Amino acid sequence: MATEQVTTPTADEVLATTRSVRGGIDTSRPVPRELIEECVTLALQAPSGSNIQNAHFVVVTDPEKRGALAEIYGRGWEMYAQTPLYAPTLKFDDPGHQARQDEISKSALSFVEHIHEVPVMVIPCVDFGVGRGKVFAEAGYSRDVVLPTLVHSAVWGAILPAATRFRLAARARGLGSCWTVVHLFFEQDAAEVLGIPYESVLQAALFPVGYASEDEFFRAWRPPLSEVLHWDAW
Ligand SMILES: Cc1cc2nc3c(=O)[nH]c(=O)nc-3n(C[C@H](O)[C@H](O)[C@H](O)COP(=O)(O)O)c2cc1C
Repeated sequence: MATEQVTTPTADEVLATTRSVRGGIDTSRPVPRELIEECVTLALQAPSGSNIQNAHFVVVTDPEKRGALAEIYGRGWEMYAQTPLYAPTLKFDDPGHQARQDEISKSALSFVEHIHEVPVMVIPCVDFGVGRGKVFAEAGYSRDVVLPTLVHSAVWGAILPAATRFRLAARARGLGSCWTVVHLFFEQDAAEVLGIPYESVLQAALFPVGYASEDEFFRAWRPPLSEVLHWDAW
């Protein structure tokens, strides 16, 4: 049975139980604007390289625009389905990993048909040309330039920590979300829908956001530390 959040989760609970919520988003319950503003305010406390502070969030509630983004997402999903990274075709040795993979694939597949129904979509973006991010353009970096790893890291590092904090802040407030990227196959189309200056602003993801019951927040399978934690050498 779906249960409503009654107590504020601890920081560790938030970190351990922020899951990808798709079908579990309550599509009938609007999300107050102030709640999104709180989450973005907290997200902006994330670090950014050289303290440039060039993270941006585009919040979409307009049904027509959500519909347009959902259509782009659907087209992106079709592209993704043809790649070797398509989640439903990946097979893993660990039974715990595979079991979770199967659940996720089912949820993600059915969500393609329903993503337009979510009350809020959030697109975290990074400016590297129009505002405070102009320093990147002035240094000669653009979409057409192959970026060295350090610059890549600085560009994406200006938004991914903030975007993650947004999702954690949302989860702490009973809001579910899901990190998605397949609309980026047609990033320019999404930029046109939202008036994002495509040349100078990169979209990092698209988060469907909405209220979710407590059952949507839980610990999931992860690899054991022995496989991924390296001390002093790989
Ligand atoms: C970079 C990235 C891209 C993702 N893209 C999508 C996506 O386009 N659609 C989707 O349904 N889920 C997407 N996901 C969600 C993953 O499938 C999910 O995080 C993963 O299966 C683990 O599930 P959990 O977050 O509930 O632990 C993405 C996650 C990340 C981090």
